[in-house]
Amino acid sequence: MKSVGILGTGSALPERVLTNQDLEKMVDTSDEWIVSRTGIRERRIADENTASSDLASEAARKAIENAGISPRDIDLIICATVTPDYMFPATACLVQDRLGIEKTGAFDLSAGCSGFLYALSCAVPMIQAGAIRNAVVIGVDLLSSITDYTDRNTCVLFGDGAGAVVIGEVPEGHGFLAFDIGSDGSGSQHLIQNYSGSRGRITPEVVVNKENTIAMNGKEVFKFAVRVMNTATEEVLRKAGLHKEDIDLLIPHQANIRIIDYARERLGLPEEKVVVNVNRYGNMSSASIPIALDEANRAGRLNGGDLLLLVGFGAGLTWGSTLVRW
Ligand code: ACO
Repeated sequence: MKSVGILGTGSALPERVLTNQDLEKMVDTSDEWIVSRTGIRERRIADENTASSDLASEAARKAIENAGISPRDIDLIICATVTPDYMFPATACLVQDRLGIEKTGAFDLSAGCSGFLYALSCAVPMIQAGAIRNAVVIGVDLLSSITDYTDRNTCVLFGDGAGAVVIGEVPEGHGFLAFDIGSDGSGSQHLIQNYSGSRGRITPEVVVNKENTIAMNGKEVFKFAVRVMNTATEEVLRKAGLHKEDIDLLIPHQANIRIIDYARERLGLPEEKVVVNVNRYGNMSSASIPIALDEANRAGRLNGGDLLLLVGFGAGLTWGSTLVRW
């Protein structure tokens, strides 16, 4: 079987910064509450003219440049998102057109904040099996487009961004070693955009009452997150025949610094072995992990032979993890 790994990374962020001090003027909250509960200090927010495909295209273009390959060599684009430009057509098709990547397969995937890991777990076996050569896997979310900025329970948490990787064949001994993905739909109500589809129809009343925005039971999501960050890590290590002591860098989903710290402490890792950007960007859903990966790559934090653990959780409820030998 071919070894498949990451050939290039890219990311894109809106310029506008929304600080905790800005939020203090919008809802009944404080910088002290937000920082102590979440670790978030500021987040990026897209303007009204920017859609997911704009940031996704920029991130994908940078990842292709970073990989040093031609758009002609891309056979598949998967876009993980819960905030597509439209319910259809797929945002991945809009990216395909924007980048002039010809005749490639393109589809969107919805798995909440685990979406990027789910998308990788689909694309990697396709390359291993020889069905395609290279794929662009994107995580993009503009959560600001579905956030109620009068709801302090949610609006302090989220931000916008896109991250992308190009994956393809790499030398033996490198690349993806194992995946673990899973779901527990019984927890679907804990993190949901209630009015957004065929079950919850969008009516004028729904829009006026802002019911087409994110609804979250923070405590339940928190408990779930702490549990599955641990079990998804144990499971992927078991599948790869490796141990927590083998991990060189943890790149977790960036929802809350307390959840990240729990995961880091369980692994016995020092702070410098974890990539953290939740303080600067908040929770960007499926974009959080690929943006953290791109920042680590461009900062020279990834050394050949390093073992990276990518692990996250999200709406569904879902979880995902993978191990990559850089
Ligand atoms: N400012 C001030 N007070 C607030 C704010 C705010 N922004 N938000 C909530 N509160 C209040 C609540 O009203 C509540 O008050 P009450 O007790 O009078 O009802 C109280 O603070 C709750 O405080 P805590 O119990 O200390 O909050 P907690 O420690 O549970 O932290 C948080 C809340 C940060 C939301 C936490 O539960 C969390 O991070 N959960 C996980 C959320 C998550 O990761 N979501 C994303 C999933 S990924 C995806 O798919 C998008």
